[in-house]
Formats: sequence, structure tokens, C-alpha cells
Amino acid sequence: MLDLNTYVNEIVWWWCWYAKEISWQIVIAVSAYLCVCVFLYFLLKNTNHRPWQIPGPPSRILLVTAHPDDEVMFFGPTIYNIVRDNISQIYILCLTTGGNKQRKEELWDCAKILGIPEGNVTIIMNPELPDDPTLIWPETEVSKIMLNFIETYKINAVLTFDKFGVSGHKNHISLFYAFASMYMEKRVPSYCKLYILESVNIVRKYVQLLDLPISLLSGSYWYFVDYNQRRIIKEAMAAHKSQYVWFRKLYMIFSRYTFINTIQEVVELDFDLDFQLDED
Ligand SMILES: *[C@@H]1O[C@H](CO)[C@@H](O)[C@H](O)[C@H]1NC(C)=O
Ligand SMILES: *[C@@H]1O[C@H](CO)[C@@H](O)[C@H](O)[C@H]1NC(C)=O
Repeated sequence: MLDLNTYVNEIVWWWCWYAKEISWQIVIAVSAYLCVCVFLYFLLKNTNHRPWQIPGPPSRILLVTAHPDDEVMFFGPTIYNIVRDNISQIYILCLTTGGNKQRKEELWDCAKILGIPEGNVTIIMNPELPDDPTLIWPETEVSKIMLNFIETYKINAVLTFDKFGVSGHKNHISLFYAFASMYMEKRVPSYCKLYILESVNIVRKYVQLLDLPISLLSGSYWYFVDYNQRRIIKEAMAAHKSQYVWFRKLYMIFSRYTFINTIQEVVELDFDLDFQLDED
């Protein structure tokens, strides 16, 4: 009996020692990561990060979204920086009213807070493009609208969602497919480049600044705002009164898209690979 007791005691002691060791290592690793995040935050806050933004200001930039509120929920830092620099011109093309007339007004109000006049915001009402998270829009219709806009306004850079559409919404993904087909069929005018906003996994999506180190490594181009500048983005989101409900308020607090946008240029090779992978 005595022997067994000693044995059990010894095992328990070793386990406690091991757990303590491991938890110290975790605490040290987490603290180191937090320090890196804080360091990067202040570094970015105090340096000119224009070199990492979409090349070529002055340019004419078109942001294509699917619903009123996409622009501020997902592209806030990009819009903020472009407007603040006041070198490039920016236009927003939104392909639905989100099923509600009031949302048009909300988008105009939101854009105004971000510094974009009403005249630079176009909202399309087209029965072929309904607001529906399960529906891929007809690609020919979407690319026709985009090309028309690119040619009319001599747009140099178009920005939209990537093939995951940030939230997986099929309307968002439709915009990417329109990009893909325009590009592969070489219908994009030579003066215009296509860019997509990188989607990140669900953990990275909701860790705010903790995503900074990974974002900086993964994106080709990026736009960043500090806490002060981010207030404007939250204010602009509040202009979408009918949409600003509790879960979107939480989103605006925790999402990394309210701090940083990472952007890739569309290159033909990427598409060939993507489409092959998708067909498998
Ligand atoms: C932007 O720049 C132009 C001149 O280049 C100036 O007239 C205008 O006031 C500026 N706008 C803002 C919002 O700073
Ligand atoms: C809005 O469009 C006008 C006319 O095309 C342009 O001059 C202006 O710079 C644009 N505004 C912004 C904020 O880009």
C-alpha cells in the first residue's frame, strides 16, 4: 500500500512540474507575439506606408462591391488611405441596393463620412443581380457592367473580392468570377489593372491587430489604419442604420478588416491554377 501511494505521488508531482513548465513556455510565446504586434502597430503608425499601397498614384480607382455596407465593413482602411492622400480618384460601384431602397441613402451617407462625394458612388438596380447569399450572378452581366464603368471613367485599378469573398457570400464571389473571365478573355483595357482583397480564415478574421504580423507577410499590397483613424470607419459603418445591429457592431470591434486590408494583383497564371484546382 505504502509503495503504491509513493508511486502515485511521484507521478502527480511530475505532471504538475511538466504542466508548469509548459504553461510558462506558452506564456512566454504569447507575450513575445503580443510584443511583436504592438511593435508593428507603432512602426506602421509612424512610418509612411505608401510604398506598400497599390502602385501608381495618381490613379483612378474603382471599388466594386455587392451590397451597401461591404465598402466599409471590408475595404475601410483602403478607402480611408486613398481619400486621405487626396492624390488618386476613387469611385464605388455597388451592384445591389441590398433589397431595400433606404440602403441607397445609407451608402451615400457612409461614403460622405469616408470623404467620397455622392457623385462617385454608383448603385446598380438590376433584376438579374438579386441580393442572395446562395446565388452566383450571371458572369456576363457583371463583367459588362464593370467594363462599361472602366471604359467610361478610364479606370486604372479595379478592386473587389477574391474567390472566397471574405465571408463566402456567393454574390461577393460572383464579382471575382467576373474578374477572372474578363482577364482570361483579355477584355480588360491595357491601362487597367485588377486587384483582389485577400480573404483570411475565421481565426485571423476576428483577432484585430493580432493578425498584423501574418498580414504583413502575406499581402503584396496593404492599407493600414491606426485606432484613431479607425474611428472614422466605425462612424461610417454607423451610417448604415438598418444594418448596424449587435453582431455587426461586434464585427466592427473584432475584425482585422477594420485595421488592415491586404491586396493581391490578379495575374493570369493564378487563374489557370485556381480553375484547375477547382475542377478536381
Ligand atoms: C485635395 O487636393 C486639392 C488640390 O490638389 C484641394 O483643392 C482639395 O481641397 C483637397 N481636398 C482635401 C479634402 O484635402
Ligand atoms: C470624385 O469624382 C470626381 C470627378 O470624377 C473627382 O474629381 C474626385 O477626385 C473624386 N473624389 C474622390 C474622393 O476621389
